[in-house]
Amino acid sequence: MSNKTLPIGIFDSGVGGLTVVAEVIKELPLEDVVYFGDIARTPYGSKSKETVIKFSREITHFLVDQGAKLIIIACNTASSVALDLLKGEFDRPIIGVIQAGVSTALQVTRNNRVGVIGTSTTIVSGSYVNELKRLNPNLTVISQACPLFVPLVEEGWVNHKVTTLVAEEYLSPLKDNKIDTLILGCTHYPFLKPIIQKVLGEGVVLVNSATEMARITRKTLKEEGLLREENSDVTYKFYLSDTSANFIKLGERLLGEKMRVITQRM
Ligand code: DGL
Repeated sequence: MSNKTLPIGIFDSGVGGLTVVAEVIKELPLEDVVYFGDIARTPYGSKSKETVIKFSREITHFLVDQGAKLIIIACNTASSVALDLLKGEFDRPIIGVIQAGVSTALQVTRNNRVGVIGTSTTIVSGSYVNELKRLNPNLTVISQACPLFVPLVEEGWVNHKVTTLVAEEYLSPLKDNKIDTLILGCTHYPFLKPIIQKVLGEGVVLVNSATEMARITRKTLKEEGLLREENSDVTYKFYLSDTSANFIKLGERLLGEKMRVITQRM
C-alpha cells in the first residue's frame, strides 16, 4: 500500500477539533481521516503543560498505530505545548494550529495590533505571542485567556446573554488596545464568532485557524509526496476516549452525515 493512501490523523481534547475536520474534508475530499477526541480527559486548557504533553504523546502513538501518514494537532492547547517536542519524536509530518492562525493574522492586520484569545494553558505558554513576534517584531500583541468560553460553548450557550456579558469582560482590554485582528486561538471559539464580533465591532477581523490549517495540510502533503489523487471509498473514522452524544450531534451538524464513532479507552 502506498503511503499516499494512508489516512490523515487529527486529534483534539474532545469535540472542538471537529471544526478542523470539517475544513480538512472540504479542502481535501479524497483523503481518509482518522480522528481521536480525548473526551474522557477534556478539558486540556486548564491542565499543566506536562500533563498535556503526556496525553498528546499517547494519542500521537495511537494515530501512528492507525497508519496516519500526517498528524494534525487540532487542539490549540496541545499545539502550544507539545508540537515541537512531538515533531522531534515521530518520523512523519506533524502540524499544529498555531502556525495557521499566526500566518493568517499577519496577512490580515493593517495597524499591526493583534489580539489572541485562548485557554489558560495556551496563553501562559506564550506560543502565539512568540510566533507572531518572531515573524513581525513590530507587532503589538495583546493576549487574553478566556477560560469560561469552552464550558459556555459546550453548554450550547452560543447565543446567550450570559455569554455576551462574559465576552464583554474578557474582550474589553483588547478593545481598549484598538486591535484590528483577533486570533480565535481555541477550537471552541469559532462557535462564538457572532457574539465576539458584536462585542468588538465589525472593524475587527476574526481569524479562525481551521481554514488556513486545511490549506497548510494540503501544502505539506504535496511537498512530502503524500497527497492522495484518487479514492473511491473515502472513510472517516472517529475514536473517542469516552462516549459523547454531544460529539455525534455536533459532528453530524458539521459533517452532514452519519458518523462512525468507536469508543477507545486510553
Ligand atoms: N481544544 C482546546 C483548545 O483548542 C479547548 C478545549 C480544552 O480545553 O480542552 O485549546
